[in-house]
Amino acid sequence: MKNFTSVQDVADLQQLVESALAYKAYPFKDEALGHRKRIGMLFLNPSMRTRLSTQVAAQQLGMEAVVFNVGSEGWALEFEEEAIMSGNTVEHVKDAAPIMGKYFDILCIRTFPSLKNKEDDYSELYIRQFIKYAGIPIVSLESATLHPLQSLTDIITMQEYMRQPSQVARFAGRKPKVVLTWAPHVKPLPQCVANSFAQWVNAWGEADFVITHPEDYELSEQFTKGARIEYNQDEALKEADFVYVKNWSTFQDYGKIYTNDPEWMMTNEKLAHTNNARVMHCLPVRRNVELSDEILDGANSLVTTQAGNRVWAAQAVLSEILRGK
Ligand code: CP
Repeated sequence: MKNFTSVQDVADLQQLVESALAYKAYPFKDEALGHRKRIGMLFLNPSMRTRLSTQVAAQQLGMEAVVFNVGSEGWALEFEEEAIMSGNTVEHVKDAAPIMGKYFDILCIRTFPSLKNKEDDYSELYIRQFIKYAGIPIVSLESATLHPLQSLTDIITMQEYMRQPSQVARFAGRKPKVVLTWAPHVKPLPQCVANSFAQWVNAWGEADFVITHPEDYELSEQFTKGARIEYNQDEALKEADFVYVKNWSTFQDYGKIYTNDPEWMMTNEKLAHTNNARVMHCLPVRRNVELSDEILDGANSLVTTQAGNRVWAAQAVLSEILRGK
């Protein structure tokens, strides 16, 4: 693997899942792989899980991790080619990225969408410019449109659950029903987690995949093609084995909130429509807005296991890059 920015960078998704689960069983089995290698982690916006899990993963492979909060501590970067830098940006990525390429063996970046200009956000300029100019492998820690380390974790978490001895018979000879449901939120959020989850579930190809959201919250077909879209949430939830809860802002009329209907919040009452589904969320979560306390604190929630699995997803990706596979 050269870079890791989407599922399209992955040659064998199932092999990556197995690698992650092997690291979960034996975290230090490759502790010499990254000896004397350094990973740079650039954050243009906040993070808890991605930052900590990727650092832990790198350290378990013997790497040294250096975190740089560019957004709050670094010079403001310019990404546009041929920009006349007479505004607020101080340093061009074509100057900064090659220097980082000299300091590190792998460079990880978390960027963010403006939610103002769809074409700019969906062009993924920030990630593309780092790939162009850094000269070393680039790992996305979440970009304007995708969150691949989160989505790999989500696939790992579902497969791990299905392999539990108590669940093997339940899933024997059939695909799990996986439902991605929109949830209310107090502010417009990116589409990246939902886009990415759809992209990875479709690439996995082992799920009966349904996406449910209010009308006008359609995601880009670039990512959802292959899923069934259902506007009636109760109907979508019927017989679901996994329910992935996430808010996103509108894609067509970009970055807006059209409705915040609290009826879309996941509750135990809604869970009763499902096949005793496990409930997932990437976190952070707005309790009692997106998901009720009763679900998050209840037996059906997978969110802590899911967040814990971020380490193994990151370790599997970093090890593939280190091996030059
Ligand atoms: N899920 C996730 O990416 O969490 P953080 O924003 O805390 O990294």
